[in-house]
Amino acid sequence: MNSMEQFPKGFLWGAATAAHQVEGGNQNDWSEWEKETAGLSAKKANEINTGMRWPHFILKNYPNPLQEENYISGRASSHYPRYKEDFKTAKSLGHNAHRLSLEWSRIEPQKGIFNSTAIAHYKDVIKSLRKNGLEPFVTIWHWPLPFWVRDQGGWTSSKTREDFVRFTKKVAEAFKDDVRFWITLNEPEIYATNGYLKGVWPPQERNPFSYLASLHNLIKAHKLSFSALKKINAGFQIGIAKNNIYFEAYQNKPINLLLKKAADWWWNFYILDRIADSMDFIGLNYYFHNRINSGFNKNENKLVSDMGWELYPDGLYYVLTDLKKYGKPIYVTENGLADAEDKNREWFIGESLSAVRRAQKDGADVRGYFYWSLLDNFEWDKGFWPRFGLIAVNYKTMKRTVRKSALAYKKLIKQWTPKD
Ligand code: FCB
Repeated sequence: MNSMEQFPKGFLWGAATAAHQVEGGNQNDWSEWEKETAGLSAKKANEINTGMRWPHFILKNYPNPLQEENYISGRASSHYPRYKEDFKTAKSLGHNAHRLSLEWSRIEPQKGIFNSTAIAHYKDVIKSLRKNGLEPFVTIWHWPLPFWVRDQGGWTSSKTREDFVRFTKKVAEAFKDDVRFWITLNEPEIYATNGYLKGVWPPQERNPFSYLASLHNLIKAHKLSFSALKKINAGFQIGIAKNNIYFEAYQNKPINLLLKKAADWWWNFYILDRIADSMDFIGLNYYFHNRINSGFNKNENKLVSDMGWELYPDGLYYVLTDLKKYGKPIYVTENGLADAEDKNREWFIGESLSAVRRAQKDGADVRGYFYWSLLDNFEWDKGFWPRFGLIAVNYKTMKRTVRKSALAYKKLIKQWTPKD
């Protein structure tokens, strides 16, 4: 990208987090599941290690995948008591926006009973964002459930969508003065797939009926929440965060094009089509490229992250331009990589932002970019070892260290923001 080139005025630059992954001290369906499964996860990681060894640069960190504590969120990144410090750092890194999520289990620990201390906490959190000049993007639900929601069947129960709407109204009333951008749900498709089809996340079901039921209820919940939010303030900007994949039809062969069409329809567009009338913007989470060559995942994998995910920043151009048809503003609500040594992050962010810029020039109305993640954090079933942060966290002392790539991102923000 030409160094004189600039992003549109008002473009939002920042990073994202999610409550359960950074706060610490959460008690929800995930935290219980972690305790039940940590032993087995560590055992499996040790078995892998007897054959193909984990790299030293992963094993030298604490906690590492061979240790049980890696799989228990516990204190997480201890962001709950340290948010002020973390937001100050975000500001010093040139950010002007931040995406965070609310923890349902803290705010509504029992059905219909709200915890005023938790609400006051998030009020302070949001105020602190404003004080630091960071536009808040608030995700209402980023995966964990209060126990009572789990016990009524989680998202497979139609009760949950009603409860979610009540929760939405409660938080919108509480935070309406300081929040304009709302993301109702984070990646409903990933959640439903992993929890109900692949059975790798709680509640570990493998049942296509539960999968479809949960997806259906999530879509309904979004629509109902959209209306409820608009009633509170018609000016709210509301969307979901959708994980879209760049499906590439290798050499445009007819069979590959056909498979691409099917995959695009189901994975990328189905939910967005269903909620097209109930969204003001699209939140896009981009991590995956999937090359189709008479079958899926025929990727070259020339470069991969610490988790083995292919690094393919160019794909962001395609997923963004594919969203033009909805005629809505787009925010990249997540994009990032696990890179403990910080060797590819700077390159990756630069390439991703160039892809954003190219997509803008080709007509995609992209208005913001949130790197995943501001801090190292608890990566769900993988635990702590994947290091996604612009800021490194020492999990023994909770000391924060800004990574070099965070400074490179800061430089790009400065360079690409118009002066007046
Ligand atoms: C996304 C999730 C986010 C984080 C990244 C790596 O699917 O939304 O919480 O775990 O992946």
